[in-house]
Amino acid sequence: MTWSNWVRQIHRWLSIAFAVAVVANIVALQQEKPAVWVGLSALIPLALLLLTGLYLFALPYAATWRGRRRTGGREQA
Ligand code: HEM
Repeated sequence: MTWSNWVRQIHRWLSIAFAVAVVANIVALQQEKPAVWVGLSALIPLALLLLTGLYLFALPYAATWRGRRRTGGREQA
């Protein structure tokens, strides 16, 4: 599996972890004193989703830049 496929899979599974954490947060909010770690359990996967998501977003543009550079090289040769 390529590096970008790994990042996509990590992003996919982090989204499930984030979804579970959101449900845990909703449940925790029903308690009188919600624990701080429940909030963090959603923030950590969300932060990782942001990083992996930005990487996935940049992938098609990076491919275009690389493609252009290669085409440019061929044109010069
Ligand atoms: C926090 C900022 C986030 C950014 C910048 C981001 C960005 C992206 C990008 C660029 C893609 C690839 C789209 C494509 O195929 O071209 C993607 C896919 C996806 N994102 Fe996010 N995302 C974010 C958060 C989330 C969250 C919060 C969830 C769900 C809880 C989520 C779930 C998914 C899923 C399931 C995919 C499809 C993965 C696959 O192709 O198998 N993302 N995201």
